[in-house]
Amino acid sequence: MCAQSKSNHLCFILVQNIYGYICTGTLIYRYPMLNRSETKKVFFTKDSIISIKHSEHFVVSAFIDHRINKAIRVISIIKRDNLQPLYCIFCNDDHDCQTAEAEVQIHSDHFGFPFAASDVLCHDAQTQNASRVAISCSTNISDIHTEDLLPIKNKVTHKSFKFNFTVCISNLFEGYNNVLQFVQTVEMYKLIGVQHIVIYNTSCGPDLEKLLQHYKREGIVEIVSWPIDNFLNPSKGWNFVEHGGDLQYYGQLVTLNECIYRNMYQSRYVLLNDIDEIIMPYKHANLPLLMEDLQQEHITVGVFLIENHIFPKTQFEETHRFSRPEWRNISGINIMEHIYREPDRKYVFNPRKMIINPRSVVQTSVHSTLAQYGDVYYVPFDVCRIVHVRTPLQGYLTKEQLFVDTRVWDFEAELISNVDKTLKASDLT
Ligand SMILES: *[C@@H]1O[C@H](CO)[C@@H](O)[C@H](O)[C@H]1NC(C)=O
Ligand SMILES: *[C@@H]1O[C@H](CO)[C@@H](O)[C@H](O)[C@H]1NC(C)=O
Ligand SMILES: *[C@@H]1O[C@H](CO)[C@@H](O)[C@H](O)[C@H]1NC(C)=O
Ligand SMILES: *[C@@H]1O[C@H](CO)[C@@H](O)[C@H](O)[C@H]1NC(C)=O
Ligand SMILES: *[C@@H]1O[C@H](CO)[C@@H](O)[C@H](O)[C@H]1NC(C)=O
Ligand SMILES: *[C@@H]1O[C@H](CO)[C@@H](O)[C@H](O)[C@H]1NC(C)=O
Repeated sequence: MCAQSKSNHLCFILVQNIYGYICTGTLIYRYPMLNRSETKKVFFTKDSIISIKHSEHFVVSAFIDHRINKAIRVISIIKRDNLQPLYCIFCNDDHDCQTAEAEVQIHSDHFGFPFAASDVLCHDAQTQNASRVAISCSTNISDIHTEDLLPIKNKVTHKSFKFNFTVCISNLFEGYNNVLQFVQTVEMYKLIGVQHIVIYNTSCGPDLEKLLQHYKREGIVEIVSWPIDNFLNPSKGWNFVEHGGDLQYYGQLVTLNECIYRNMYQSRYVLLNDIDEIIMPYKHANLPLLMEDLQQEHITVGVFLIENHIFPKTQFEETHRFSRPEWRNISGINIMEHIYREPDRKYVFNPRKMIINPRSVVQTSVHSTLAQYGDVYYVPFDVCRIVHVRTPLQGYLTKEQLFVDTRVWDFEAELISNVDKTLKASDLT
């Protein structure tokens, strides 16, 4: 459930009560569970999913895009086969509202699902002073209520950033409870220079919940509530033909795009990877040193693609020196025990993940960006690659056919001690 927060920032919104309440990292009051039939005005945080009235579409969050004449960009979920004209109704702090025709851009990567990550753009000379926006099927302003309006973020640009490295983890769901791999990943990331991790939470398991509450208190993790299953039947897979459902992988593409805009003027770089992946420098001690070199060599690049490499969770290191009794009761995978890496297969595409300069990206997919301003660079495997401990893709290979890759062990002493401290502080040991 929601913990109290340090923030004094009040936001309001009407909640159409299909669930008790939604919480995000900045909720400051606890609310009683509302009864199912009620619609009630509550104080409420900024971020959520809002249905566009009289349509099948949804909006998620709104940003000023300084790169396109301060237009308002609304990250949205659009039902592809039910397009209709949409309008922007944007209001300033004095509640003066104006309307403009909306431009809908459905992202090309929708993997065949009926609903797609999209941008709804509001172009108008007056958008720069707007503080809230609604997307509507009509231009009738009196049809718009508080619950339809999204706060507009990124109103001012920054040249210096609160964070140098932010990791965006799309979608926790289905009681995910892989605590040991999660705590090791976060602690590893902290050691190599990450200061901020954003996680979209649909649901998680009881132990991971404790860990997340700890990280939220500590401040490294920002939890964004993502109750997509209250609005759609999200797919558990990435491909419509194979997995069915309304929207790819719990809305992963929507949250990745949201995360880029959320961090655009907050973080120098953003890493886009899954919860079980670590983007790991192999020639530099940490991410700042890696990016300093890469960026100096490739000044025009805004998107750095990093190869994914599989470390099968089925192959254990032989001495079992990291099979520690302190971790035996912790659920999940111990990545320190899995140091065998699968070889690349010549004719199988090795999907990549990304380190991006968020200010250079317009739209993203999972393995590449879809639209960006700068250049794209494939980072060589020996400079940086992903440590991805999971079920094998080439499970028929024996240990002798795999590569030994002990990069994580380079951080052994600090990593173990920090993981132990965190588990204790999370009340898990
Ligand atoms: C994640 O979402 C679930 C379901 O809404 C909620 O019960 C849980 O408290 C959330 N966890 C965090 C850390 O926000
Ligand atoms: C919900 O409904 C029940 C039964 O009508 C009532 O006793 C209860 O007070 C209601 N809860 C709230 C929060 O209104
Ligand atoms: C925006 O607000 C500023 C400050 O109130 C004002 O000077 C400016 O004229 C406004 N711009 C537009 C386009 O309304
Ligand atoms: C605009 O919306 C209001 C409130 O829903 C409604 O009463 C009014 O008839 C609408 N006006 C037009 C021109 O449709
Ligand atoms: C980010 O990196 C710059 C330059 O390396 C450094 O001066 C700054 O303190 C770093 N910021 C944070 C939040 O660590
Ligand atoms: C693991 O949990 C069991 C049952 O809760 C407990 O008896 C045991 O001492 C724990 N072991 C360790 C190493 O913490």
